[in-house]
Amino acid sequence: MLMVTIFLGLLTLIFATWLLGYIRRWRMPPGPFYWPIIGNITMFGGRTYLTFIDLAQKYGDVFSLKLGMTDVVVLNSLDAVKEALVKKSADFGGRPKTLTSDIVTEGGQDIAFTGNSPTWKLQRKLFVSAVRTYASGRNLETIVHESLEDIIADFTNMEGEPVDLEDYIYKVVYNIICAASFGVRHKMDDSDFQHLLQTNKEGVEILSKGLLADIYPSLAFLPTPAKRACHEMSCNFLKYFKRQVDQHQETFDPDNLRDITDHLIKAQKEAEEEGIQDINSLTDTHLRQTVGDIFGGGTNTTIHTLRWAILYLAAHPEIQEKVAAELDSVVGRDRLPELSDREATPYTEATMHEVMRMGSVTPTSLPHATTVDTTLRGYHIPKGTWIFPNLWALHYDPDIWGDPDTFRPERFLDDNGRPIPKPAALMPFSVGRRACPGEAVAKADMFLLLAGLVQNFRFSIPEGGGPPDLTPDVRGGGFVSMPVPSKIVITCRK
Ligand code: HEM
Repeated sequence: MLMVTIFLGLLTLIFATWLLGYIRRWRMPPGPFYWPIIGNITMFGGRTYLTFIDLAQKYGDVFSLKLGMTDVVVLNSLDAVKEALVKKSADFGGRPKTLTSDIVTEGGQDIAFTGNSPTWKLQRKLFVSAVRTYASGRNLETIVHESLEDIIADFTNMEGEPVDLEDYIYKVVYNIICAASFGVRHKMDDSDFQHLLQTNKEGVEILSKGLLADIYPSLAFLPTPAKRACHEMSCNFLKYFKRQVDQHQETFDPDNLRDITDHLIKAQKEAEEEGIQDINSLTDTHLRQTVGDIFGGGTNTTIHTLRWAILYLAAHPEIQEKVAAELDSVVGRDRLPELSDREATPYTEATMHEVMRMGSVTPTSLPHATTVDTTLRGYHIPKGTWIFPNLWALHYDPDIWGDPDTFRPERFLDDNGRPIPKPAALMPFSVGRRACPGEAVAKADMFLLLAGLVQNFRFSIPEGGGPPDLTPDVRGGGFVSMPVPSKIVITCRK
């Protein structure tokens, strides 16, 4: 009898909570029916950004869902994204606090997953100044050229054979970030590099799935295999970062700054000397986490954009030849492309834009969260609501692009082949106060890499294998759009 009473009591509580939620929702953006406890959880599997586009047909470009018991609002058009992330950037500039982000960021001591706080502001400012000093202009060119020469040698040895280039793209991108951050470079068979590669691949899958406790925080105590895997992945990265940062601290010389890590250590020491009150802002953990942000933000995004670039160019040989011809006429074959070539190579730049539009490696950006009770389009949005800006929807909006499914770099050029002003709907780096602080370095880096590769090689789809699969890999879930593993044939351009 007691059991039945407890059971009925629980059922009533669940029903009442659900009903209250539903009543409270009438002021919020419209959305589909949701179940008690699980909400609309089934809509969040696989390529969520496509599901969001279907839902927007029915509920409009701003709609709400329940992820478990958490309120979610999806922004599905250019106007909605600009209104929330730009016009109301303070209200919409927070981040969801989840168990996964807590584990990865050692309790929220990073930039990307941390709420809108003074510490975040200071870390972001430091990050931008360190990256600008060590990963731009001549410094970046030197670092990229060294890594390119290494991969050009690898690719030359693989000429003619169908190969999956994924690991090589990982190597070139990791080596650029490792060189700028720590002054080190890895060989393919280095145990450190193989460990990083493996951890990174596992990390994409772990982070794109998240943990059950992210949406049911009361389950955080459960020692699930997914939680253990997340801890292990995070420890593996942090151990590597800690070793590098410790070595830098031991050999630090303020008169000879070597890289981004030295720059951050100097800022930390200066803050100590000046007696900045909030010294907690620059603990060793913050420093390690800021370095982690450079890797977390800069590796997979750049790697998968480059993988998309090679795949799209292989699938469109006529476009690839136009890029190669432009590089031949501007750069020639006697030197690698430089940043000063960008202005004179508009077709190459336009191709990069088209790759970023169609590849959309961060299809739903990083989730935001509201920092206060706020409104959007007259709808009420409570504090703590998770916000998903659906960048994929903007990049594939037929009203904006006309033929969004066609790979056509010319859409970014005028009739004379000159660049048109960047369309507002192209926002792979998002917008507003949380927009990617690595945008300038990412674009420069990817130009140097792609131009250097196309200058030296022709990429093609293996004969007899049918057309390439351009559907994003489901392993990226709703958060990362990456190509499925595929083989490419490399030919040296003589
Ligand atoms: C193709 C390359 C890249 C793409 C497409 C990309 C895209 C993005 C996007 C969509 C966000 C989320 C913005 C938001 O929440 O509104 C972001 C955040 C971030 N990105 Fe990038 N990113 C790229 C490269 C980089 C690079 C190279 C770095 C580091 C050098 C970097 C560091 C970061 C950091 C630290 C954040 C968090 C910013 C914050 O929360 O305040 N990203 N990026």
